[in-house]
Amino acid sequence: MATERTLSIIKPDAVAKNAIGEIIARFEKAGLQVVAAKMQHLSQEQAEGFYAEHKERPFFKDLVGFMTSGPVVVQVLEGDNAIAKNRELMGATNPKEAAPGTIRADFAETIDANAVHGSDSPESAQREVAYFFHADEICPR
Ligand code: TYD
Ligand code: MG
Repeated sequence: MATERTLSIIKPDAVAKNAIGEIIARFEKAGLQVVAAKMQHLSQEQAEGFYAEHKERPFFKDLVGFMTSGPVVVQVLEGDNAIAKNRELMGATNPKEAAPGTIRADFAETIDANAVHGSDSPESAQREVAYFFHADEICPR
């Protein structure tokens, strides 16, 4: 299996619930390593640029409003198959459809405040990691 990097964001709802540690523990228990991390309160421009692919969607304005409503924790996760593994740990976009035991099933109730973000492909992982981190902020072990 290939070692990959993926971008993870612990969203404002999960930070407000004091669930940062529990969520990161799930990544680590699944064999993913945190190789970069920072807490940040996103500006409107940062959130809009990050979610640019959804610009034309009806939920875009609310999504940007939510993502700028409080601090987030942005991380780079590294490990075998990290992109798919993280998506599996996260569960479905809509927490009501997320498999039991996934992060979204356990920490979120609604699709618009769903606890975590994770890159969905190698292309988006590369773009999203570079969006938040300079190369010298990533510390592989
Ligand atoms: P998307 O990339 O489809 O989901 P995921 O986060 O699982 O990759 O959508 C990005 C975010 O937009 C999603 O996490 C929550 C929000 N969103 C809504 O608020 N309503 C919706 O109907 C969809 C599809 C997404
Ligand atoms: Mg997505």
